[in-house]
Amino acid sequence: MKKLKIADGIYMLTMNVEDILFEGIWEIANGVTINSYLVQGEKTAIIDGVIGWDGIPETLYQNLEEIGVDPKKIDYLVVNHMEPDHSGWIENFRKIKDDFTVICTEKAAKLVSSFYGEDGIRIVQEGDTLDLGRGKVLSFHPVPNVHWPDTMYTYERETKTLFSCDMFGAFGRMGEHCFDDELTPEEMDFFEAEGIRYYSNVMATFTPSVKKAIEKAKTLEIKVIAPGHGPVYRKNPQKIIADYARFTRYAEGAGKKEVTILWGSMYGMTAKAVAYVESILQREGVRYNKLEMPLESESEMVATVFGSAGIIIAAPTYEYKLFPPVAAALNELGRKRITGKTAFRFGSYGWSGGAEKELQEIMERNNMKWDFVESVEFEGAPKKEDLIKVEAGVLELIKKMGNKVVE
Ligand code: FEO
Repeated sequence: MKKLKIADGIYMLTMNVEDILFEGIWEIANGVTINSYLVQGEKTAIIDGVIGWDGIPETLYQNLEEIGVDPKKIDYLVVNHMEPDHSGWIENFRKIKDDFTVICTEKAAKLVSSFYGEDGIRIVQEGDTLDLGRGKVLSFHPVPNVHWPDTMYTYERETKTLFSCDMFGAFGRMGEHCFDDELTPEEMDFFEAEGIRYYSNVMATFTPSVKKAIEKAKTLEIKVIAPGHGPVYRKNPQKIIADYARFTRYAEGAGKKEVTILWGSMYGMTAKAVAYVESILQREGVRYNKLEMPLESESEMVATVFGSAGIIIAAPTYEYKLFPPVAAALNELGRKRITGKTAFRFGSYGWSGGAEKELQEIMERNNMKWDFVESVEFEGAPKKEDLIKVEAGVLELIKKMGNKVVE
């Protein structure tokens, strides 16, 4: 665990968590940080306070003591969001101290009670404040449904620090550098990519609420953004606000200037056309990603499709329907409400078609509104005339996705 001073009386405690499925689902290839913050006036508050995925925060207590804070003298636990990656230590803390107050929204209070049996709760609403003394005043600003209904921002007025919890967060383990002004260009790129992974995996379903939360952040004068996951932005907090605004556009069909081939093949017939498509994309100088299903992790699949302006679905018919691993991937993208992507599908069939019909059903059922170039289906192996049609489809996709590119 690392301890970092953000300002006089404000500290960050952060640790990397790896080898877990985030939310029990998402395989996070590059880990994640869990960040806690301490604000000290005459009274002391800890914000987003779990350290350790198991909710056992002995290292947190030790680290607090090392920065001169007796854990028994913590007065307030500010729960910006009740999901246990941020609140899981409350029960444990009750064992060493029994007169602290939990500060949270009304929705979070119900969750804190039901998960931890906690009743020492002060419910806050928009604009409520907590004066900790020595100039440190916290104000509270609910931002519901990003991604749970209970969430709020906490804002420290003296230092203009926004403690944003999941908002403006990113996956990715942190090395020595935890502040934006310390990150190398490579580390900056890493956290931007991990921000896309985080947003697409965790937040995308709630894009309309994220947009409102971005607008609320803009009403506050912000010098520092201190999220619950990922680096602290003190040099340019507007960068992560702009990134999140861009991510909301990715959820609605925009993307980077690249194509993602979401594909699967039973006996290599569709795969032959995929190889041909790669040669076309290379010839045209278009950056592309390949996701072979079911071999890719769900986290990687969602993040990669989410970030791309053009999607190629290459999948055969299987038992009168779309090849199941690709159908499952599309259903997951639908659940995440990733809408409006520009797409093209091709695939092989044997004795019967059916893939195309299921593709349309998935699109309609999930209200995905993807904009498709006309699909190409071929019987068995792709013949020369089939590949000519596939090439035409790819070229049309490249042209069409041009007006969706946002980088
Ligand atoms: Fe970082 Fe929604 O928990």
